[in-house]
Amino acid sequence: MIKGFVFDLDGVITDTARFHYQAWAKIAQDDLGITINPSVNEQLKGVSRMDSLNIILKFGHRENDFTQEQKEVFATKKNDYYVALISHMTPADILPGMKEFLDELRAENYGMSLASASKNAPRILAGLGLTTYFDKIVDPASLRHGKPDPEIFAKGAALLNIKPSEAVGLEDAFAGIQSINGAGEFSVGIGDPKILHEADLNFNCTAEVSLAKIKAAYADQND
Ligand code: G6P
Ligand code: MG
Repeated sequence: MIKGFVFDLDGVITDTARFHYQAWAKIAQDDLGITINPSVNEQLKGVSRMDSLNIILKFGHRENDFTQEQKEVFATKKNDYYVALISHMTPADILPGMKEFLDELRAENYGMSLASASKNAPRILAGLGLTTYFDKIVDPASLRHGKPDPEIFAKGAALLNIKPSEAVGLEDAFAGIQSINGAGEFSVGIGDPKILHEADLNFNCTAEVSLAKIKAAYADQND
């Protein structure tokens, strides 16, 4: 039986990828002399701040040009810029259908936790007016491994005191679906089914997410 839902944030509840991209593009251009493009951005989804910087440096063939201290400075600068961009977020930035979905889950008393790699997640939830919906938030600083490792989604279920088999994970990134599956949870992909083909159930976009369909697919798999 489903007892709880573990959510990714970026790309599932709100679209912050464009702000990450804007912030990284500026740092890459101004400080690293690297011009990034949308295909690089795709690789940054679900990836931690420092790992994102390493991907950009590799893309620009500059992976050996900076010390760890310099990289910390770039990452902090990117974050300062990113935080300024997300400071204007409001409930209007919730992706279509997700507020209604969260309300439905709350009405049915499901546990809800957040499994985002973003250290800014609490700030973003506050801007969206969604803080009270989440019983628990996984602290990404407490993790040894990022997605696709199962650790973050396993923790998301453990914090709700439910078994992985009782949890549904929602993700827009392939690495996230791998994390959910590795944790032994029911995976729901939101986005291109070709990219998210390992998900137990897929919706093309947030507006299509349906609790009834999730329950039916979960029941099919578990009877
Ligand atoms: C999410 C985003 C990534 C981002 C990561 C860390 O997973 O999809 O693009 O790099 O969070 O975010 P942070 O806010 O801690 O820099
Ligand atoms: Mg995401």
